[in-house]
Amino acid sequence: MSTLSPAARIGRTLRGMPASDGAGVKLTRVIGSPELEMLDPFLLLDEFGTDRPEDYLAGFPEHPHRGFETVTYMLDGRMRHKDNHGNEGVLVPGSVQWMTAGRGLVHSEMPEQHEGRMRGFQLWVNLPASEKMTQPQYQEYAPDRIPQLQPADGVHVKVIAGRVGEVDGPIRQPATDPIYLDIELAPNATWQYELPEGHNAFAYAFEGEGSLGEGDEARALSAQHLAVLIGGPRLTLAAGAAGLRVILVAGRPLREPVARYGPFVMNTREQVMQAFVDFQEGRF
Ligand code: FE2
Repeated sequence: MSTLSPAARIGRTLRGMPASDGAGVKLTRVIGSPELEMLDPFLLLDEFGTDRPEDYLAGFPEHPHRGFETVTYMLDGRMRHKDNHGNEGVLVPGSVQWMTAGRGLVHSEMPEQHEGRMRGFQLWVNLPASEKMTQPQYQEYAPDRIPQLQPADGVHVKVIAGRVGEVDGPIRQPATDPIYLDIELAPNATWQYELPEGHNAFAYAFEGEGSLGEGDEARALSAQHLAVLIGGPRLTLAAGAAGLRVILVAGRPLREPVARYGPFVMNTREQVMQAFVDFQEGRF
């Protein structure tokens, strides 16, 4: 008798859309666009990646957030963040910042460089109604605090959140129990990973190409494409001849109403209006 769990497969793939945010930073919006408004509990995924300073120098000057979490994962470049509660720091290549905006804060995210490459991701993770007005909180880790392992030949995984084998990532968020892995597969390498049952999950390829799924159900996945996963929890990733790099992200869906406007993500329209008032009156 087989004890294997059902296999994950690609439900759909999509490319991000060119977008501009902050003071004119060029980026690719992958989740949070008309094509994929959200994947509960994930509200937005932006990929930023450029060698051209004019695409990022303007940065993200002061702006508010309320009701959710922003997760910044830097691949290249340095970014300084600073908020109105006295928190400040610099993200370097390989750093992650998991910021629980909660009841609200005002911060800036500005490049700490004038040339060279800037590359990474920003993900927005929703909070349940019961935690939208929680105190702001940061979980920020330098690259050497993010465990790395080689779970199979030619497979390197950085565990930002969730568990791989016996290795736990540093991020704690019981509300959505997130998984966030940076996976690098050498040419033709394969890896199998068991996602938590009932999580929504996606894989976003950012270098190379390969496939996701098993046997007849394996589908191609190439750089700058997001795969929304369906089916069971047993995920199989395989790299093609050029290797493959993906982020694999999963979380427990909240299944609550979402009312969002720009940097405010609440449950009702009234709560969003209240966020505007509170922000304007300096209560963040
Ligand atoms: Fe922000």
